[in-house]
Amino acid sequence: MSDRVILFDTTLRDGEQALAASLSVNEKLQIARALERTGIDIIEAGFPVSSPGDFDSVQQIARTLRDSRVCALSRAVQGDIDAAAEAMKVADQFRIHTFISTSSIHVESKLKRNFDQVLEMATGAVRYARRFTDDVEFSCEDAGRTPIDNLCRMVEAAIKAGATTVNIPDTVGYTTPTEFGGIITNLFERVPNIHQAVISVHCHDDLGLSVANSIAAIEAGARQVEGTINGIGERAGNAALEEVIMILNTRQTHFGLTTNARPTEIYRTSSQVSRLCNMPIQPNKAIVGSNAFSHSSGIHQDGMLKAQNTYEIMTPESVGLPRNTLNLTSRSGRHVIKHRMTELGYQEQDFDLDTLYQRFLELADKKGQVFDYDLEALLFFENQKEDD
Ligand code: KIV
Ligand code: ZN
Repeated sequence: MSDRVILFDTTLRDGEQALAASLSVNEKLQIARALERTGIDIIEAGFPVSSPGDFDSVQQIARTLRDSRVCALSRAVQGDIDAAAEAMKVADQFRIHTFISTSSIHVESKLKRNFDQVLEMATGAVRYARRFTDDVEFSCEDAGRTPIDNLCRMVEAAIKAGATTVNIPDTVGYTTPTEFGGIITNLFERVPNIHQAVISVHCHDDLGLSVANSIAAIEAGARQVEGTINGIGERAGNAALEEVIMILNTRQTHFGLTTNARPTEIYRTSSQVSRLCNMPIQPNKAIVGSNAFSHSSGIHQDGMLKAQNTYEIMTPESVGLPRNTLNLTSRSGRHVIKHRMTELGYQEQDFDLDTLYQRFLELADKKGQVFDYDLEALLFFENQKEDD
């Protein structure tokens, strides 16, 4: 089994489909380029049959990408597959991603078919897609709620029909990490041809478990992980790819797995996605939230000044942030103020630390957070007093 996890980004498909206002072609191109810079292997650019605008943007992205491979979504019907192939044929290599539901709830209530009919449709779609490309991904929609015997049958049949990647989505974010990892383990134990395809996972965040479920699946043998930047997507969203990347990166010795990601691009890509999609990032969001590398309590700040790894398991620089932030509040110690003044270019003889710290505490009690320009103003007023 490979020790590399393939990164599949669906910000422009699953992510975009959840936005109040669609992205323009130009905005999608900017995001696609940012994803490419971040080292994403496969970029799902859209669902070409869904609208002429989507077709056009998939085509333009297919024309632009060099290092990442373009992919487009299609239902398990020929018209969708034709549209996907037509939109991407400008690229040297492309992936067609076709899918159909496999859970009993979806098969009976949504598709109004029986499982054998759905199996026929799935294998027919995979065979048809293989006429256009040798890179075909098949997804078992709502795999998380699919009876395991049916899921095993579907995965085996899809691989036999020519799927090179088989994706196991937790479409409604229902499973727990133990359950979801168990599904992947079961597939590896029971599907005889499973090593002929890459097993992929695609988790939604309805219970806040999408990243945990993805990691459990990787531990059980999945070697492609699907997600979006900042976790944007349907309802509560998809697995946040920047979190998956940094989990595998920060705990490299634990997992022993690699990716092609360039983590130092994460912050820039995340900010761009947030701005273009008009989706603010919560301050305490892991990896990319504005508080992710800031330290407020006096004890933490003091520890950070002694050694960065006391309270940081990865550096802000590693995800592309210039440096960590020590929030200056009434809980900050004298130590931190002295350090910040040195960072601002002052020498010890330029200020009286006791007085400055006293003024700082008075100000912090009034306004909460004290900024660098406040410190400079306090120093200026103290020096003025001395001169008078
Ligand atoms: O969540 C899902 O099941 C999907 C499929 C189309 C892969 O987005
Ligand atoms: Zn999805």
